Amino acid sequence: SAPVVTLDGPSGSGKGTVGQVLAARLGWYFLDSGALYRLVGLLAHETAVRLDDGPQLARLAQEMHVDFGVNPAGTPRVVLNGVDVGDRLRTEEAGDRASRVAAVPEVRQALLEKQRAFRRPPGLVADGRDMGTTVFPDALLKVFVTASAEQRAERRYKQLKEKGFDVNLARLLEEIRERDARDAARAVSPLRPAADAQVLDTSDLSISEVVDRIEGLLHERR
Ligand code: CDP
Repeated sequence: SAPVVTLDGPSGSGKGTVGQVLAARLGWYFLDSGALYRLVGLLAHETAVRLDDGPQLARLAQEMHVDFGVNPAGTPRVVLNGVDVGDRLRTEEAGDRASRVAAVPEVRQALLEKQRAFRRPPGLVADGRDMGTTVFPDALLKVFVTASAEQRAERRYKQLKEKGFDVNLARLLEEIRERDARDAARAVSPLRPAADAQVLDTSDLSISEVVDRIEGLLHERR
């Protein structure tokens, strides 16, 4: 089946942008698995389903229809049941809800097949927390992307600021630490590098430097 490159790591490590640039360079498909968890959180919010109600959340996850694309400006777009969700997934609130529903085993189970269906020739770049450990254990290349919490908060701050959101750096750092702790402590698919993953600290690297390194690793494998 088609080759997969997995990019896992904590919030704000840059793997989302890196993954998109890498996929574009390779001409491969791109899976933003975090968006799926964010969508489940959003749907739960809109339909007043509790963020710990396993069976109801699993139903939402199974029934949602998701399409990824790009806007004419080149920015990523998520289409849920035929409707563009716009910036509603990118807020800190959406991220917080996502990490709560992501701790529910029924949700992770329901999203497993959905995620695997993105694997198509000529290849897939998959971004998330458990791409290398759980979803694509047979990936061609697994990269665990990290950076210090301070660096990650700083990056997130710039990103949100550019989008016109009203943000506070100290609060973002606190939220990143909380989310890290929750992602690492959950019973199902906690955040950790796969045994065969290459760990890449991006604290002092630009996006294109990170993409270059990953391309280098990929060429060694092919
Ligand atoms: O990068 P950031 O954490 O801001 O956002 P994301 O990648 O969209 O992930 C949002 C949340 O979804 C994370 O905090 C994780 O708890 C969860 N997630 C997960 O559990 N498994 C994945 N494969 C992707 C995201």
